[in-house]
Amino acid sequence: MLYDIKDKKLASKGKSRIEWAAKDMPVLAGLSKEFSKKKPFRGIRIGACLHVTTETANLMLALKAGGATLRLCASNPLSTQDDVAAALALEYGIETFAIKGEDNKTYFKHLNSVLDLKPHLTMDDGADLVSEIHKNRTDLLKSIVGGTEETTTGVIRLKAMAKEGALRFPILAVNEAQTKHLFDNRYGTGQSTIDGIIRATNKLIAGTTFVVAGYGWCGKGLAKRAEGLGARVIVTEINPIRAIEAMMDGFRVMPMKEAAKRADIICTLTGNRDVLDTPHFEAMKEGCIIANSGHFDVEINLKSLKTLAKHTASPRPLVDEYTFANKKRIYVLGEGRLVNLATAEGHPASVMDMSFANQALGATFILDNKGELENKVYVIPEAVDRQIAEKKLKALDVKIDTLTPAQAKYLESWEEGTS
Ligand code: ADE
Repeated sequence: MLYDIKDKKLASKGKSRIEWAAKDMPVLAGLSKEFSKKKPFRGIRIGACLHVTTETANLMLALKAGGATLRLCASNPLSTQDDVAAALALEYGIETFAIKGEDNKTYFKHLNSVLDLKPHLTMDDGADLVSEIHKNRTDLLKSIVGGTEETTTGVIRLKAMAKEGALRFPILAVNEAQTKHLFDNRYGTGQSTIDGIIRATNKLIAGTTFVVAGYGWCGKGLAKRAEGLGARVIVTEINPIRAIEAMMDGFRVMPMKEAAKRADIICTLTGNRDVLDTPHFEAMKEGCIIANSGHFDVEINLKSLKTLAKHTASPRPLVDEYTFANKKRIYVLGEGRLVNLATAEGHPASVMDMSFANQALGATFILDNKGELENKVYVIPEAVDRQIAEKKLKALDVKIDTLTPAQAKYLESWEEGTS
């Protein structure tokens, strides 16, 4: 068996944490049970590039229960939980290639170790695996049936590939499912980003001016949680509709150059590059803390920050202090990478339960429709999305109303109006 992990001795700790997360993943557990009977992945090789967390471990176990042969690598150099990687390899026999803090060369070596499995299905978070296949491993295309993509940024990249006609196999965009983005992006990112900022700094959020860059589902979640902890929240946006939404949700809205002057903490979640750059670093106050919770580490232009700084230090793990000539200090968390995974544990299991139910069912959707799908980005059928929600409600022991036949008919008719 092949693997590359940090420390074998961490395996039992990882196993115990994986079991803890499983308690909050009842939908995935139900699918795992079904998979172990029906074996939908018998004879199927799956190459996965996901954040190596306790939640991902439970997804890997469900796929394995369904008969899959698997390999897993990290989708971010700083998001791996080394105890989980050790447990996956040594306790569960899943070939895992992930070490927290791995350099870029190792990151891509690990991606290629996964690709050496010659997968039929890819499972990606950010589209690095798919991109690597299209750039450097086109020999693998002949055996690939399709892939799934977890995140907003990955879906944007893959849609761009499809638009250019460059995409060579079909993709199921997990992120587009309502049971994914409404909960994982909003409540998951909201809580885990705050968690990452607090674990890294141990700062009080109450009374701070907290700037949220980007008001997509992730930004909405973070703004609400920061507000809940007593921060004065400012939102920055480039989209006029989202800007109005933020304003009417009760937040101040202004350009980043203005917001940066006032900020105690700034967190980017835009999916775009250079959201914090030289003019913003120059505008910031002494002691400003900056972090990113968007997929890639491009949102904070660290290159220009390094050029501006006269001195750097690391006062706490994954906190970098940049001191300017005028003695002003700016603090960057988690090297500008996903702060919720770099300095905390990512989204809690309860939301990943639905995201990974979508991953698992997305994989079966691709296999069930083998040969029928074009090289495009697909959305999971709405009926499947609803089924996942129904299963989650059942597990949470929450009951809801059902339409009466008259109500169902009313919704499908146009004749009835003003009575
Ligand atoms: N993305 C965000 N949080 C995550 C988690 N806990 N596991 C896997 N991927 C994630």
